[in-house]
Amino acid sequence: MKLTRNLWFESVAVAQQRAKRRLPKSVYRALIAGSEAGVTLADNVAAFGELGFAPHVGGAPPHRDMTTTVMGQEISLPVLISPTGVQSVHPDGEVAVARAAAARSTAMGLSSFASKPIEEVVAANPQTFFQLYWAGGRDQIAARIERARAAGARGLIVTLDWTFSHSRDWGSPWIPDKVDVKAMLRMAPEAIARPQWSADWIRAGGPPDLTAPNVVARGEPAPTFFGAYGEWMMTPPPSWEDLRWLREQWDGPFMLKGVIRADDARRALDAGFTAISVSNHGGNNVDGTPASIRALPAIADAVGDQIEVLLDGGIRRGGDVVKALALGARAVMIGRAYLWGLGAAGQAGVENVLDIMRAGIESALLGLGHASTAALTPDDVIVPPGFSFRG
Ligand SMILES: Cc1cc2nc3c(=O)[nH]c(=O)nc-3n(C[C@H](O)[C@H](O)[C@H](O)COP(=O)(O)O)c2cc1C
Repeated sequence: MKLTRNLWFESVAVAQQRAKRRLPKSVYRALIAGSEAGVTLADNVAAFGELGFAPHVGGAPPHRDMTTTVMGQEISLPVLISPTGVQSVHPDGEVAVARAAAARSTAMGLSSFASKPIEEVVAANPQTFFQLYWAGGRDQIAARIERARAAGARGLIVTLDWTFSHSRDWGSPWIPDKVDVKAMLRMAPEAIARPQWSADWIRAGGPPDLTAPNVVARGEPAPTFFGAYGEWMMTPPPSWEDLRWLREQWDGPFMLKGVIRADDARRALDAGFTAISVSNHGGNNVDGTPASIRALPAIADAVGDQIEVLLDGGIRRGGDVVKALALGARAVMIGRAYLWGLGAAGQAGVENVLDIMRAGIESALLGLGHASTAALTPDDVIVPPGFSFRG
């Protein structure tokens, strides 16, 4: 008799515990990330806990609709995959995530620092947006965009809220530049302690190569992750003129990710972006930046009727999604939530996380007495005094 383990989990918190048990310590800690004292990292999650719901009883409609569109893509729930440049979590990496997102009919952001080529990811989920950093010269950036276009990406995302802070009070994990014999020896005790993770990689043909294949034109050799990171670090940050140039390079939908102030949201609108994500890079921007949900209401007031406003940061359950939608987001993007799912159970784990989000949205809508996410308003949420940040 073959015994199959039940890998299903009931919450993102349980997925995180499983991922912690399954992944080598340094891979797990790379997903925790965060900067400096982790004030923003913690606030992203804590702020959702400060918001309450005002449920009704009686008269709830029998069905609830959560379909929507984001950057021209029809999606079955208002939850997208946020781009994350993580390597080594699972041999199928972003392809597993793309398959899961496609299986649950939602769109996916693919990081510039992803481990899988964009062509493979788009083949797994045509609803893919490619995420860029302002790294290298304009010619290099234009070549990346050209590759994304040729691969069939449906939109672009430019992420601007990274400030190269590498100090963490809890210490940063060691990540090798390349996986040579020396690096494998150093990683060996961690890998031996995580036999399932190691077996997955052995079955896949060997350890992760830690390269960034999407920062070069198709067919060119992929630089190492740190090679690509170093180029980005050496690139002067973009001006708003550069961003207007960037916008002109792509005639489809384009999101600017990392906005936390209403004045920058207006600038993104003026520069012609289709969407913004209210975000602090999951607590990886300047520590002390407010939780993205605190910044959302003012930004939604300022530009919500003129540009698609998304939010990412701290989403761990469907109720968080509903709170963000009630306060003005069109949809949200998730980061660590799906990474924990991927680490716990690969593609099935990411599907499991999306199912948790869907069930949580469904349940909150039922409590609030709404037939659709479109009916949500700020009245559904109890916001404590002093909660919001008005930038
Ligand atoms: C390990 C890790 C890697 C990330 N890499 C990227 C990246 O390459 N590009 C990007 O735009 N955002 C990146 N992000 C930020 C996410 O897209 C997203 O903004 C953030 O994770 C949302 O917060 P949450 O993790 O609380 O959901 C990363 C986040 C984490 C945790």
